[in-house]
Amino acid sequence: MTVRDIFDTMSYGPAPESAAEAQAWLDRHDRRFGHFIGGAFSKPGETFATKNPATGAALAEVTQGSRDDIARAVAAARKAQPKWAALPGHRRARVLYALARLVQKHARLFAVLETLDNGKPIRESRDIDIPLVARHFYYHAGLAQLMESERPGMGPLGVCGQIIPWNFPLLMLAWKVAPALAAGNTVVLKPAEYTPLTALLFAEISHEAGLPPGVLNIVTGDGATGAALVDAEVDKIAFTGSTEVGRRIREATAGRGVALTLELGGKSPYIVFDDADLDSAVEGLVDAIWFNGGQVCCAGSRLLVQEGVAGRFHEKLRARMDKLRLGDPLDKCIDMGAVVDPVQLRTITEMVAANTEGETYRAACAVPEGCFYPPTLISGLSPSARLMQEEIFGPVLVSTTFRTPAEAVELANNSRYGLAASVWTENVNLALDIAPKLAAGVVWVNGTNMFDAAAGFGGLRESGFGREGGWEGLMAYLRPAGKARALKPTMPNPAPAEPKIEGIDRTPKFYIGGKQARPDSGYSTPVWGAKGQLLGDVGQGNRKDIRNAVEAARAAKGWARATAHNRAQVLYYVAENLSARAGDIAARLKAMTGAPAEAEVEAAAARLFSYGAWADKYEGAAKPVPLRGVALAMPAPVGVIGALCPDEAPLLGLVSVMAPAIAMGNACVLVPSAAHPLAAADLYQVLDTSDVPGGVVNIVPGDPVELARTLAGHMDVDAVWSFSSADVSGLIERESASNLKRTWVNHGRARDWSGAAGEGREYLAQATEVKTIWVPYGEG
Ligand code: NAI
Repeated sequence: MTVRDIFDTMSYGPAPESAAEAQAWLDRHDRRFGHFIGGAFSKPGETFATKNPATGAALAEVTQGSRDDIARAVAAARKAQPKWAALPGHRRARVLYALARLVQKHARLFAVLETLDNGKPIRESRDIDIPLVARHFYYHAGLAQLMESERPGMGPLGVCGQIIPWNFPLLMLAWKVAPALAAGNTVVLKPAEYTPLTALLFAEISHEAGLPPGVLNIVTGDGATGAALVDAEVDKIAFTGSTEVGRRIREATAGRGVALTLELGGKSPYIVFDDADLDSAVEGLVDAIWFNGGQVCCAGSRLLVQEGVAGRFHEKLRARMDKLRLGDPLDKCIDMGAVVDPVQLRTITEMVAANTEGETYRAACAVPEGCFYPPTLISGLSPSARLMQEEIFGPVLVSTTFRTPAEAVELANNSRYGLAASVWTENVNLALDIAPKLAAGVVWVNGTNMFDAAAGFGGLRESGFGREGGWEGLMAYLRPAGKARALKPTMPNPAPAEPKIEGIDRTPKFYIGGKQARPDSGYSTPVWGAKGQLLGDVGQGNRKDIRNAVEAARAAKGWARATAHNRAQVLYYVAENLSARAGDIAARLKAMTGAPAEAEVEAAAARLFSYGAWADKYEGAAKPVPLRGVALAMPAPVGVIGALCPDEAPLLGLVSVMAPAIAMGNACVLVPSAAHPLAAADLYQVLDTSDVPGGVVNIVPGDPVELARTLAGHMDVDAVWSFSSADVSGLIERESASNLKRTWVNHGRARDWSGAAGEGREYLAQATEVKTIWVPYGEG
């Protein structure tokens, strides 16, 4: 026997982690848990079992949260919130720091309990999940400390309802609880029904950390408990889970003025170019799709490999798959543990069985009895195959090939999701050229599944909206402090009893794709001045006009690629041309509103200048992540933004909405004030003479309700904003569920368009997606 033979035949000895402490903790609670409300555990009610998926054995009974339980928890959180928010940031920072320390102190207990409840390998819960949880609380202790000086004028939202999934139970709790508490909110959190235990242990230690009663409440239960939390009197819902449930939550919260962030599914591409270090890329894939058995929202589940190396790469990959070890999750030597529940195992099995395309390779590794699924590769699928498009959420990799970088980008972006992507190449030019072109909130260069509290995480498209981590994640738990006034509806001037028809007829057309267009409907309505004079007629836009405008906006792709300097110049030029016509424009505004308007025109020009200034000054960041490398946070345009403009400042309001959108590289479809629509007519003549490329700004006047519905339901619109005084906020939020576009609506509250609330970072944040690009570096 040679040394090589010995190495080839040597098998691993078992290296079991003891579960004694975790079992003892469960015993101390008699293996029956109530909810954690107002700083204490309630008596268990109607319960269900939470099981160890690796063995099927019941671990404990937990309570199915009722609507009453949720109401009690929300009341406790509501009561505790003002005092928690009133603490100096430093006091909250001390509590978060204590939580971080306690997580570290009990790290092994948390890790073992997580592995028992979820089935993930102890290697992962011990080395990845729990250290990241502690890091999250440390980082957010820092944000609590700095918040007042770094984000002045911002305050907490109030009570946050948080609903988390089973794949990273404690980590998802940390991602949600840490920023909420840092910002001064209180929380009601519902863990997933399969994995409630570490949240209950966390509740217990939160008391020890000095968290006041009611600041964190945990209510266990299934989807019905989650739905009750969504319906409760909360100020925010933060959800991580399936796109289907996310969509339902979007609909259920519509129109209630409840802030919402959704972190949903994905089908993230893993792109391997022919010059990549193939062995590293294979090892990366192990982490991309077999980490946590592929039950990861950002799993690199869609392999795109360049044709020239595809054969060799798949061969290496299959050889590596055969060496993966499945088994007892508490064994420190195993690579893959159990699937979370037989229900999930059935979903995976059925999805794979239903596939009739390509070639399926199951790893030749031993698969234990029970809730386990073998590492699987399905190659040669067409881009439209169901398994190329739908999330499997299991250890199944699908693969196809590409020839050119452009084709790689096209295939990668051929998805309704947009969560994460990996790019493997030794060519830094290629990597940094491709990364910004990928429709994903997170891109890893020569790596995968890298996370840190300082770096934002979150998606686009049907992967949801909002970021977790970094300052951008904290902002999702803050709002401008103070109470906003209710917005009074602005009505058009009434038709006079004896109309005064003077001068020439001015019937502005629509502005679509840089050209004036006639309304599809063929209908126009008269616009009356404040003194009863006929100012002109305005076309009534309909679904078809919006469709044309969106198409034109989508075609104006070059604008997003223009340099920031270039966009700044265009904005300054628009301001200059607006000022040149200030007299005429002010006179027309005055005729409409009856009030002097010179100041409004001047403020509009100044606002254009502000966003010209911001165009090349709204900076990204290089996040100091614990890695040899950087995580770049790059603001990227959202895409096509539809906006209903304010009525109370018809010109300044329209400019305040348009300018940040285009400064950041978006194209927009604007619906001007329904009461004073002619303000827009002057503007498009200004745009025409100011080098704004056709399609970047499109203007379609009409009925706000009809146009809001059309924009919000349009599958090719990426965000809808509304500052209209018409009651359309709920409608927009509801209709936006179709493609889960971002929304920013006023919920009937007024804004001071000429003051600080009329411009600035809030607008720029709404006009951009933070894209996090991880670039590790160094040799060896
Ligand atoms: P799910 O979306 O149903 O569950 C996630 C959380 O939402 C759980 O706490 C659940 O109790 C709660 N929930 C369920 N229905 C609800 C409702 N109507 N209102 C409020 N909360 C509700 O996910 P599930 O059923 O556990 O997994 C199904 C699929 O979802 C997976 O196969 C996977 O494709 C995807 N998924 C994606 C995750 C991600 O991280 N993006 C995490 C978990 C699942």
